[in-house]
This record gives sequence, C-alpha cells and structure tokens, in this order.
Amino acid sequence: MKAVRVLEYGGQLVFTDVARPTIARDEILVKVKSTAVNHIDLVKASGTARQILPIDLPWIPGHEFSGVVEQIGSGVAAYAPGDAVFGTSPMGAYAEYLAVTPAVIARKPSNLSFEEAASVPVASQTAWQGIFTHGHLEKGQTILIHGGAGAVGAYAVQLASQAGATVIATASGADEAYLTSIGASRVIDYRAAQFEKVLREKVDVVFDLIGGDTQQRSFLVLKEGGHLVAATQPVSQEETARHRVSGAMMRLAPSADGLGRIARLLEEGTIRPDVATVYALQDAARAWKDIAATRRSHGKLVLRVA
Ligand SMILES: NC(=O)c1ccc[n+]([C@@H]2O[C@H](COP(=O)([O-])OP(=O)(O)OC[C@H]3O[C@@H](n4cnc5c(N)ncnc54)[C@H](OP(=O)(O)O)[C@@H]3O)[C@@H](O)[C@H]2O)c1
Repeated sequence: MKAVRVLEYGGQLVFTDVARPTIARDEILVKVKSTAVNHIDLVKASGTARQILPIDLPWIPGHEFSGVVEQIGSGVAAYAPGDAVFGTSPMGAYAEYLAVTPAVIARKPSNLSFEEAASVPVASQTAWQGIFTHGHLEKGQTILIHGGAGAVGAYAVQLASQAGATVIATASGADEAYLTSIGASRVIDYRAAQFEKVLREKVDVVFDLIGGDTQQRSFLVLKEGGHLVAATQPVSQEETARHRVSGAMMRLAPSADGLGRIARLLEEGTIRPDVATVYALQDAARAWKDIAATRRSHGKLVLRVA
C-alpha cells in the first residue's frame, strides 16, 4: 500500500510503498479515505520532544482518519465490512490502510464527507474533554477559550455555547465574525489587546490552547475555585495554589462513546466541522509546510488518501 513515512528525526516526508497492516482478532482493518494534519505529528517527527514523545522509525504519521471497514477480526461484532467509520489512532493514518480497535472509532456522521469526518476526532474530543471533563463547565458559567478560532478552539466555542455557557474567545481579529457565528459572545484580538486588561468580570473556566505568557496571565482572570485547563503545557501548581484555582494539563483520551456523542451532535447540526484545505496524501509535505508557516484562515488541513 502507499503511505507517507518519516525515515529519520527531522527528515523529509517520503511517499512510498509499505506492507499493508495485518489485524489481530480484536481489530478492524480500515481502508482510509482521508486523514488530517495535527501539530503533534510535526513535533514527533522533528525529534525535538523525543524524550517525552518518542517514535519508532521509520514512522507513519497520522492520528485521525475517516474510511471504510475493509476487514474485521474474529472477535469484532460491532462493525462489518463496508461500514463508514472515523476515529483516532496513535499513529499510521497517512496510509491507505490502518489497523484500529473499535474502542477508538465510531460510525461516520452520514451528513459529513470523508474529508470533513477526518478533521473531527482529535479536535472535537480534545475540546469536549477540555471543557467538560477537566473544566467542569456548566450552564450559566463563563469560559475564556484561548485560540478559539483554531481546530480545537472552534469545537470548544461551539460545545460551550450549546451547553448554555457564555463564551469569550481570544483569536486574531480577522476571525471575529467566524467565532461570533459559531457561538462566541465576545472575541478579544490577542494582537490588539491583553485579555486580562479588557475583561471586566472573572471567568469560571479558562481553556488554554496557547500556553506560555497567555497561560501565566490567565490566573488573573479566573474566579476563585475556577478551572484552568491547558492543552499545550503543564500548569504551575504553585500558581494554582496561590490563586485558589485548579489547573492541569489535559491529554486527549479518545473513546468510542465520546466520538459517538460527537457524531450525533454533528448529524443533528448542533456543531459543524471546519476544513480549510484538502491536499492529496502525496502532498503531505506541502501540508506540513503550510501548517507550520504563516497564519492561515481557520479550519483543519486534510489529506485525501483514496
Ligand atoms: N493535550 C492534548 O491532548 C491536545 C490535543 C489536541 C491539540 N493539542 C494542542 O492544542 C494546541 C491547539 O491545537 P489546534 O489544532 O487547535 O491548533 P490550530 O488549529 O493551529 O489553532 C491555533 C489557533 O491559535 C491562534 N493563536 C495563536 N497565538 C494566539 C494567542 N497568543 N492568543 C490567542 N490565539 C492565538 C491561532 O490564530 P492565528 O493563526 O491567527 O495566530 C490559531 O487560530 C496545539 O498546540 C496542539 O498541539 C493538545
């Protein structure tokens, strides 16, 4: 089968022939239709974080996909060949076939294209777990989402506003209309203003998709007892104690139930995906260059495999 591989840390992406995966009795072989680009793929491939995010080389990137079930293991009852599915994978989705377990997939929402479906699993589940599982967000509360127009942020904005929370997002000024259209009550242009200086009231939850100084300044706008959920770096426990808030870095824990719930929200039109650009699988290197380069409009970068 065709796949994109990383042969050495920091090396080029190579479009090449590799052996098709075989499946264990509890696994499913998926014929991949589309996959999507995530920053974590680039970080792992670069080797800069190899102490904490090691990969076995040669390595096939790709943490999410959509596709059609090709074959099922003898112990799999929930799916049958021909089913359209989407889900996450620890690696390997930049390929024509992928072996996964039912624990990380769900049926593809029927109203989504395969390109749209591939853009959903990582960002939407990270957003759900960030704001509800770790942020304990409730109806009537206020949440500040840093990086609201990004892939994760846009789901967080939609899910939080659908849950009856007031949503404030930091983003580029150019994304203000987009964010308002998906449920943000207020957008703060991070280049034009410092959120802690313009916010009049404190918030119940901060979902930090940026880190660094943005995370540091977030303590100033959290109510006592509030929650700081970070997706990019650990949270200082000294600072959480000093400000009497809770704070932790989350790590996505994909699940079939969680993705199934997201699929229902997509099917009923409660939330929607956002695909910026679709590339062919063999152009993965160009997609990586684009995601790492200058500012783009909001939305995910997707690779069409078949
Ligand atoms: N912990 C986990 O399990 C987990 C899971 C998924 C993702 N992540 C991480 O979460 C982060 C966000 O992922 P993503 O896929 O949503 O990224 P993304 O699509 O690239 O979005 C990032 C957004 O942040 C905006 N931004 C940049 N600097 C900002 C600032 N100082 N203040 C406010 N907004 C700012 C960008 O806008 P401009 O381009 O206009 O500057 C962009 O819209 C990444 O670091 C990713 O690795 C973690």
